[in-house]
Amino acid sequence: MNAIREKGLLRSLRSLPATGGKFQWQDRELLNFSSNDYLDLANDERLKQAGREALERWGGGATASRLMSGTLDLHTELEARLAAVTGQETALVFGSGFLTNLGLLSALTGKDDAIFADKLNHASLVDGARFSEARMIRYHHLKLDNLEKMLRETECAGRRWIASDSIFSMDGDLADVAGLQRLAQASGATLLLDEAHAVGILGERGGGLCRISGQPVVPAITVGTFSKALGSYGGFAACSHEIRDFLINRARPFIYSTALPPVCAACALRALQIIEEEPGLGAELLRRAEFMKDALRAQGLEVMSSASQIIPIFVGDNEQAVALADRLLDQGILATAIRPPTVPPGTARIRLSVTLAHSEQDLSRAAEVIAKTVKQAGAA
Ligand SMILES: Cc1ncc(COP(=O)(O)O)c(C=O)c1O
Repeated sequence: MNAIREKGLLRSLRSLPATGGKFQWQDRELLNFSSNDYLDLANDERLKQAGREALERWGGGATASRLMSGTLDLHTELEARLAAVTGQETALVFGSGFLTNLGLLSALTGKDDAIFADKLNHASLVDGARFSEARMIRYHHLKLDNLEKMLRETECAGRRWIASDSIFSMDGDLADVAGLQRLAQASGATLLLDEAHAVGILGERGGGLCRISGQPVVPAITVGTFSKALGSYGGFAACSHEIRDFLINRARPFIYSTALPPVCAACALRALQIIEEEPGLGAELLRRAEFMKDALRAQGLEVMSSASQIIPIFVGDNEQAVALADRLLDQGILATAIRPPTVPPGTARIRLSVTLAHSEQDLSRAAEVIAKTVKQAGAA
């Protein structure tokens, strides 16, 4: 604990009275830029209704693991829709996105395998690789020439895997998924793409970055989560029947854990329906994110390499980032400081998630407050 404190890396919890991008907190309106409820669906009346109905019909929990008696019609329906939305043969729901990656990589890869992973991949992909005995080889963030070189130079007796986020969670930039697919095909590697921050927002039916029309990419495995744009909780892997069958038989976080609660599954399913009924939601979110970036730039702030609703503002120093977040909170803006090990040392930042709860007026006001506060603090 002392070491954590001395490095300015102490983390603690803050208790809030509500979820979503905007709500009352301590007698004032709080603009929450630290929520992943991108499409403002978590509190949508249609989602809540679906949750209430599921609670009535199925009760509070799934009551068993999937292989025992926990596979409900609701999971089956959700998996069919996820397969259709991602353009994959089939899908398998897990307890969370984190558990999906842990389960996938630990089950599918072994000690003779090599996993080529972007340096900024999410922690769950890193830990999934650690759980297996496969070698993990990390290539420079988004640098496909570096990946190509490593694929060429690495001897591997087993299978090669390429694993990458599609939208990177702390930088908000995008992987070149077509380029990754090309390299996977050329080197005989199996491609796994984690679309956690893209599902519901990008691509046809909200199927993710790989489903953007014109250049559909079909990785061997698409990972996603219900906990962000879908306003619920849970995760999934969409893949071939063969991989799904293998996961059912070998993925320990799937086998040895209770099935996703029906309320979560019902809310995720309803969110997917809403996204199909209102196909403009993702585009509108990206439009507002661009509006926010323009507003921040107009105030003289840089937004790193953001190409999505995730907007980082570079600070560098850990303590300065925390002090900045504290000052923003005093002014009704919740924008958490992100520090190592979540991001590389020396790259502490304020991470903003724009959501559909934020109006243009909110975003303009927030950009002004953030810029003023950054200048006062002498950060960025
Ligand atoms: C890229 C990525 N993958 C997986 C996860 C884990 O998803 P979940 O919150 O459903 O565990 C997250 C975020 O938390 C993420 O950003």
